[in-house]
Amino acid sequence: MKSINIGNSNVETSNIALGCMRIANMEKDSVDKLIKTALDEGITLFDHADIYGKGQSEINFGKVLDLKSSKRDEIVIQSKCGIRAGFFDFSKEYIMESVDNILKRLNTDYLDILLLHRPDTLMEPEEVAEAFSLLVNSGKVRKFGVSNHNPMQIQLLNKYLEDKIIVNQLQLSITNSSMIDCGLNVNMEIDGSINRDDSVLEFCRLNDITIQAWSPVQYGFFEGTFLNNPKFKELNEKLTEIGARYGVNNNTMAYAWLLRHPAKIQPVTGTTNIERLKEICKASDIKITREEWYEIYRSAGKVLP
Ligand SMILES: NC(=O)c1ccc[n+]([C@@H]2O[C@H](COP(=O)([O-])OP(=O)(O)OC[C@H]3O[C@@H](n4cnc5c(N)ncnc54)[C@H](OP(=O)(O)O)[C@@H]3O)[C@@H](O)[C@H]2O)c1
Repeated sequence: MKSINIGNSNVETSNIALGCMRIANMEKDSVDKLIKTALDEGITLFDHADIYGKGQSEINFGKVLDLKSSKRDEIVIQSKCGIRAGFFDFSKEYIMESVDNILKRLNTDYLDILLLHRPDTLMEPEEVAEAFSLLVNSGKVRKFGVSNHNPMQIQLLNKYLEDKIIVNQLQLSITNSSMIDCGLNVNMEIDGSINRDDSVLEFCRLNDITIQAWSPVQYGFFEGTFLNNPKFKELNEKLTEIGARYGVNNNTMAYAWLLRHPAKIQPVTGTTNIERLKEICKASDIKITREEWYEIYRSAGKVLP
């Protein structure tokens, strides 16, 4: 498994992460097998959020790993806060309270990275900075990131933060690739040219911010997977055809496509299936060619000028 540094920090992790959103309803034994498989395959970054299963994902994770042991520093754990019922909350009090609750549920003393989950337009960056400083000084959080944020929102935060943002987690897959599409279709009068997120891909590259790709094999907003889906026949045929050259299947290739981008994108897989997880991890060491990357892109119905 290849490794990357998150942003420009000294936090080094596997280039593929395991997302724990879907482990909330799983039996302890199945969670145990999933996490052990991830560790055996070399995955070292585990992604959480306080809202996954209303906290149950963090509880389930904390039950299968002893996060008070000396092995705690062998893995990187991140979680997110800021989403509440019907609103977003980046107030100092709420951030502080959320982290305490996350640590309790995971049964650990610290988070490696805390992410602000979705932008809160009522955010006061000075307040966030205060909360972050307190969290670092008390040893509860090592580093900070955001999720679903645009470049100006990150710059606004960074103006006040002592520890700058090192990760931005965004939805990104072969089918949901607007941040890539707009850079390929600059100034064209087609949908693909619409810059929906203020050139977030280029901004993150310029500022050494790791993009973590959430829902790497979903299409739409949780509409299902595009893998083996008849709606994406051409894409699946292409992934299978190119995968055969590397001795892997379409699942592995969907990840190899994300990893080929020089932005060092880190896919966050949400699989709960051990066999699929092993297939996904094979992508870590595969480097597809430039031509193959574009062939896959076009097979998803994307057009080039
Ligand atoms: N920051 C955010 O706003 C945000 C939002 C959503 C998610 N996330 C993070 O991103 C992680 C990944 O998200 P995700 O779970 O949506 O990602 P995903 O890996 O694209 O989707 C996983 C789902 O797709 C299914 N799947 C995958 N391959 C399949 C196949 N070949 N056939 C049938 N089903 C297949 C999985 O089923 P199996 O379990 O059976 O494999 C699972 O239900 C989450 O765990 C979370 O950590 C972040």
